[in-house]
Amino acid sequence: METKELISLSDKYVMNTYKRFPLALARGAGARVWDMDGKEYLDMTAGIAVCSLGHAHPAVIAAIQQQAEVLMHVSNLYYTEPQACYARLLVEHSFADKVFFCNSGAEANEAAIKLARKYGHDQLGGRYELITMKDSFHGRTMATITATGQGKFQVGFAPLLEGFKYAPFNNLTALEGAISEKTCGVLLEPIQAEGGVRIPDAHYLKGVREICDRHGILMMLDEVQVGMGRTGTLFAYEDSGVHPDIMTLAKAMGNGFPVGALLTTDKVAAAFQPGNHASTFGGTPLAMVACIAVFEAIQAEGVLANCRRIGAYFLNRLRLLQEYCPQITDVRGRGLILGMELKIDGTEIVKKCMEKGLLIITSGAGNVLRFVPPLIITEQDVDQALDILEEVFKEI
Ligand SMILES: Cc1ncc(COP(=O)(O)O)c(C=O)c1O
Repeated sequence: METKELISLSDKYVMNTYKRFPLALARGAGARVWDMDGKEYLDMTAGIAVCSLGHAHPAVIAAIQQQAEVLMHVSNLYYTEPQACYARLLVEHSFADKVFFCNSGAEANEAAIKLARKYGHDQLGGRYELITMKDSFHGRTMATITATGQGKFQVGFAPLLEGFKYAPFNNLTALEGAISEKTCGVLLEPIQAEGGVRIPDAHYLKGVREICDRHGILMMLDEVQVGMGRTGTLFAYEDSGVHPDIMTLAKAMGNGFPVGALLTTDKVAAAFQPGNHASTFGGTPLAMVACIAVFEAIQAEGVLANCRRIGAYFLNRLRLLQEYCPQITDVRGRGLILGMELKIDGTEIVKKCMEKGLLIITSGAGNVLRFVPPLIITEQDVDQALDILEEVFKEI
């Protein structure tokens, strides 16, 4: 099929919920993808922080192929080995004692919101209110758009859920002030990704932990975008010296296989009993073997060390570009989630980069260029991306 024909076919039959670029991608390998005409692109988006091992990772392909021939899906009324083994891997490498599996980030957060309410009902005398952060992003279900502290995602969907309050990110005094006798938890991202790659102060998460402990309420971290290695540690909270009570994951877990998870302690997990929450596809054998392959590759292939090393190199090259580009007001990042804040909207830059074979995206109010490449990229990949960016900045 020709690109033009595909675009009109898609526009005719697929609902109009995405503002798409006129680009149709046909295949990928490592940090590169190719369009239908065979043009190559360096992919600094990784399917929005999903394909951390790069496209077509052989171990993930093999795991899915082998499992597909054995057992693809059974219901959660039965036990399967891949699910138990992957849950053990997550627990052994995190603060958590128990895992709930689902299929996406929004679903993981939806589960977290329900779990916090049930815990409040059972253990906190009926407290149900959650504090979330302004400029946050937690998904597109009704509960998660309510949790998302950005009005633009909520317009037209009233009435939203009751029991949510918003505090400014990276402000402990305001958080403390927002807590009431109804509050059962605080839900936040360790780094606000969609909100513009906003990185809090070094002691912020520790401060949130202290506030939650003082009030006996739950600290809930949404690591859907930054979990599973993107910040250079397996989970972003590891840098903070404190543990959450609940953490959600999705995107990079399956390197492209749709999957999500909620991790929590035994104490909090006890609030969910059979019948309280479920997912038909959650933790299905096919997803679980993909996740195990991803997890093992992260450990075996030095992915975290590469993420830290290349992340530092990338940030430095962005800073050098900032020195002679007056449109750039800030560059920031941790590991391989990097942001470049601009005085102007970034959409034109994204389009021009695409024409030159580089895929990047924006976040925030559209004025932050976001780089979330596969964690396996090399210095040469960064150099190629920066050469293209430099060219584009010269043109605008
Ligand atoms: C921090 C965060 N939470 C939740 C979500 C929603 O995940 P999903 O699109 O898989 O539902 C996203 C997606 O971008 C995210 O970045």
